[in-house]
Amino acid sequence: MNIILKGNICYSKTISDFVEYENSYLVCENTEVVGIFSEIPERYKSFPVKDYTDCIIIPGLVDLHVHAPQFAFRGLGMDVELLEWLNTYTFPEEIKYEDIEYANNAYQLLADAIAKSETTRACVFATIHKPATIDLMQKLENTGIISYVGLVEMDRNAPEKLCQISADEAYEITDSWINESKNRFKNTKPILTPRFIPTCTYELMLNLGELQVKYKLPVQSHLAENLSELEWVQELYPECASYAQAYNQFGLFGSEDGVSVPTIMAHCVWCDESMVNLIKDNNVYVAHCPQSNINLSSGIAPIRHFIDKEINIGLGTDVAAGASLSIFRAISDAVQASKLYWRLIDDNGKPLSIYEAFYLATAGGGSFFGKVGKFENEYEFDAIVIDDKDAKSAYPLTISERLTRVIYNTADYKIVDKYVRGENVWNV
Ligand code: GUN
Ligand code: FE
Repeated sequence: MNIILKGNICYSKTISDFVEYENSYLVCENTEVVGIFSEIPERYKSFPVKDYTDCIIIPGLVDLHVHAPQFAFRGLGMDVELLEWLNTYTFPEEIKYEDIEYANNAYQLLADAIAKSETTRACVFATIHKPATIDLMQKLENTGIISYVGLVEMDRNAPEKLCQISADEAYEITDSWINESKNRFKNTKPILTPRFIPTCTYELMLNLGELQVKYKLPVQSHLAENLSELEWVQELYPECASYAQAYNQFGLFGSEDGVSVPTIMAHCVWCDESMVNLIKDNNVYVAHCPQSNINLSSGIAPIRHFIDKEINIGLGTDVAAGASLSIFRAISDAVQASKLYWRLIDDNGKPLSIYEAFYLATAGGGSFFGKVGKFENEYEFDAIVIDDKDAKSAYPLTISERLTRVIYNTADYKIVDKYVRGENVWNV
């Protein structure tokens, strides 16, 4: 759609360069950004102008890691660490998605919440159940956001009802799910999703490696979230130099060319330097999920170190280990977690500024989807329009100060419109 948005426009050009343009024009041609202008250029004078004077316009936010079936128990069961949390709360809930009626209702609640959120792109885990996963994909498609959705792969170390019957059956089901879903939706695509090493047998991982090559699909999973998990993986794969290598041996851990196996690994809290180097060399994305890491007492990921190494990083809510579906919340959590890391763990790890965390939530995670997350020429046009006129202040604030207060949830605001690839998808 050709359209011009008028308002106070801001975004992160780089991790260290946040820019704001007061009372300016953001031009969209078809699905892409043309640029930001103080006056409408002659060439675009015929485009309709949507007047958002006084509002704040930012790039859409990206949730690089979220579990759709876990939305049902968000904010519950935060009293244990990862492995006990999976067995006590997560697996019993995920078993329910075999029942398509239950899934239909629960996934609609999740889709409604995403539609009403500042999220425009997401990488989503479903469950092992194919019908419910396709149902989830349809519901996410209906929200207008762009997402990757994964049928979750697991065939051991979980209740029998949540394990695929065999590695070969998992291959067949996954293959048919990919074929049924890969061209069915415009904005919702399949992503290969081994849950994590402990729940996937060697044979299943081999099969997933084969499917990755066959369909050239991206991959998402979990890496080095919790210390007991790390020890467990070492017991399962004593011959592997690291947890990362346990994925890499199957071709499921990125690639040096940066394009043939796009991969997201959530958490990366406890990576030794060899893992960090493999993440970097294989262009793997880290989905940083600070709230989840605190709720499950997992630890704090060394994000400053990853930034210094120029590793790809985005933010994830990791619902339900993260209680909130809000990426605004993830931004402030990332800042706060980085301060504790600096104070308590390593004073070389300078805390993140809010603008650095904002970059991770927009362009950082956005780049997994292509040219996404900036208001620059040829970037896909994803934008959120925020009205904070009800926010009171004792003194005048700049645009970026107003945005900061919104992110910290200290100012009344509402989302007015949400554009995804140039289309306004806000209808709530
Ligand atoms: N590791 C394996 N499965 C999960 C999950 O569902 N949530 C989190 N946070 N970590 C995991
Ligand atoms: Fe997770």
